[in-house]
Amino acid sequence: MSTQYYTATSLDGFIATEDDSLEWLFPLGAIGDTGYPAFIAQVGALAMGANTYRWMLRNAVHIGQETGSGWPYAQPAWVFSSRALAMVPGTDVRFVSGDVAPVHHEMTRAAAGLNVWIVGGGDLAGQFFDAGLLDEAIVQIGSVTLGTGKPLFPRRVTSPPWRLMSARQIGAGFAELRYRLPHGHGKT
Ligand SMILES: NC(=O)c1ccc[n+]([C@@H]2O[C@H](COP(=O)([O-])OP(=O)(O)OC[C@H]3O[C@@H](n4cnc5c(N)ncnc54)[C@H](OP(=O)(O)O)[C@@H]3O)[C@@H](O)[C@H]2O)c1
Repeated sequence: MSTQYYTATSLDGFIATEDDSLEWLFPLGAIGDTGYPAFIAQVGALAMGANTYRWMLRNAVHIGQETGSGWPYAQPAWVFSSRALAMVPGTDVRFVSGDVAPVHHEMTRAAAGLNVWIVGGGDLAGQFFDAGLLDEAIVQIGSVTLGTGKPLFPRRVTSPPWRLMSARQIGAGFAELRYRLPHGHGKT
């Protein structure tokens, strides 16, 4: 069981534009050609921040065309927000706020031996890292630059650095890098 930050990013380190658009991402390749199907099959619980959840709600139609449902996940999902957000009927979504550690404990229990996925954004992944709870990052680096946007991982981690475990090319659109993360570093 591992806690994983799995995400796509631009070459210059942004996971979305400033206004939360992912339009730059979809033309880069089909999700079925990436490691995603094998990855999601091993996920037992997932967490995301409020803006990522809002993106899901706004793009329910698009997601539905890809997956057959307005909400793409069968796994229980924890959404971090300090505000009340709309619920998608028929889904297992739990709204939480504050310290990630007790939520991670619940997620691990629900995952029952499968992996825990931190969907994003980057600061939420950073909060799990700060708490010493993030084991791996799996980053699909798209062959585009955005200039500005929502950061991949707004933390300074230099010593020890992340440990590169594998790198593979996915067409001309992506390089997938898998890293093991150092633990016990606290916020910098
Ligand atoms: N490229 C990809 O594969 C990929 C992957 C994931 C996400 N994305 C996109 O990237 C963007 C991410 O947006 P973002 O960077 O703004 O991050 P986000 O994590 O989606 O949203 C940040 C918000 O989450 C809430 N939050 C975070 N931690 C919290 C905590 N501990 N307690 C309570 N609330 C907490 C806060 O909202 P409140 O103000 O509601 O409290 C915060 O402003 C989205 O557009 C998403 O669609 C892209």
